Amino acid sequence: MKNYFVIGNPIDHSLSPKLHNFWMKKNNIGAFYDKKKLEENDIESFIQQIKVGDITGLNVTVPFKKKVIPFLDKLSPEAEQTHSVNTIILQNNRLIGYNTDIGGFTNALKSLNFDSKGKKIFILGAGGVVPSIIFALNKMEASEITISNRTRKKAEDLKLQFSNIKIEEWGNVYDFDLIINATSLGLNNEDIDLDFSKIDNNKLFFDVIYNPIETNFLKTGKKLGNQTENGRLMFVYQAAEAFELWHGIKPEIDNKVIKLLEND
Ligand code: ATR
Repeated sequence: MKNYFVIGNPIDHSLSPKLHNFWMKKNNIGAFYDKKKLEENDIESFIQQIKVGDITGLNVTVPFKKKVIPFLDKLSPEAEQTHSVNTIILQNNRLIGYNTDIGGFTNALKSLNFDSKGKKIFILGAGGVVPSIIFALNKMEASEITISNRTRKKAEDLKLQFSNIKIEEWGNVYDFDLIINATSLGLNNEDIDLDFSKIDNNKLFFDVIYNPIETNFLKTGKKLGNQTENGRLMFVYQAAEAFELWHGIKPEIDNKVIKLLEND
């Protein structure tokens, strides 16, 4: 039977099995999808199981999106340029790494009717998912991308990959149309200590976090009269792209799917 896993550490929180199993059942695909917590030393042997046919495909989450790359035969252009892989598939006996986070982010903004072209974007954080977000925003022709990260060096490193970004000090708020929280602040109900009182109220506050459903960052944005969205749309759309790569079927994204992720 075909089998798929999401690998990461920690992995308990992952909703990928729930979503993929739902779609597989709906599309009469006889396969199962499970989560697997791995240590870094186990990554290579786990991935090799795809080559011998014991595993059909993998999703990759934090903190392994970059670490899996040395064990793959080829990367998609997007995975290559972001140094980030979240989906692995065997094609012609070669292990190929894809990045569906880029499409996930792009389609999330599209479904919100937010057109990034010519817009000013402010990104908080410089962790694993940020290269995919910058790549997507560049493709959508955002006019200005400003990054602010507690550890400035990590933001500076991103500039080597994406020369057009601007780096600013952590702790200040800069002018934006769209602000994205890509830090882990909020996962445990922490506040982000930033003063948004001087911005207008027609902005979009986007959080990559989807559990909790509404972080303090989003609560603040909403209170100030802005549009807000958590990370579940991005999550669903990246999963849909992985599903299509594996099964050749575009899964349906409706309210039932979104609700599936809420009652956990
Ligand atoms: P990684 O950095 O290993 O890729 P991540 O979860 O993708 O992990 O990213 C965590 C992000 O949240 C980072 O940008 C991190 O900032 P640092 O680079 O300075 O570590 C940010 N972050 C986590 N805790 C934070 C805190 N208390 N204050 C500000 N930023 C924080």
